[in-house]
Amino acid sequence: MSLTHTEAPPATAAEPTAYGVGRVDDVPPGEGRAFVAGGTQVAVFRLRDGSLHATQAACPHAGGPLADGQTDADVLVCPLHLYAYRWSDGSATGNVGPVRLYPVRDVDGELVVTV
Ligand code: FES
Repeated sequence: MSLTHTEAPPATAAEPTAYGVGRVDDVPPGEGRAFVAGGTQVAVFRLRDGSLHATQAACPHAGGPLADGQTDADVLVCPLHLYAYRWSDGSATGNVGPVRLYPVRDVDGELVVTV
């Protein structure tokens, strides 16, 4: 009796894709707005220094609407229970999991989010 060795096919990860979700001017400075990028709900923030950041739309703690959160140059604070997430890597300052960050850029005034 012989055994046949079969290799599992390589795992296929979806390629990141860039989506135009709206205009930069749709997001007032210092605020966030919710958008959909290719079926993924995201929250995009335009900080007062002009920088853009994007996260998953729902807070990893209990699903709070992160687009309604308060921001500063370093963190995003969820409006529901006030956990804070660092822009640098998405990690939380409290005892909760990280938030997912997405690349976002301004392309001729359009917000382009890669998910
Ligand atoms: S739902 Fe965001 S901190 Fe609780």
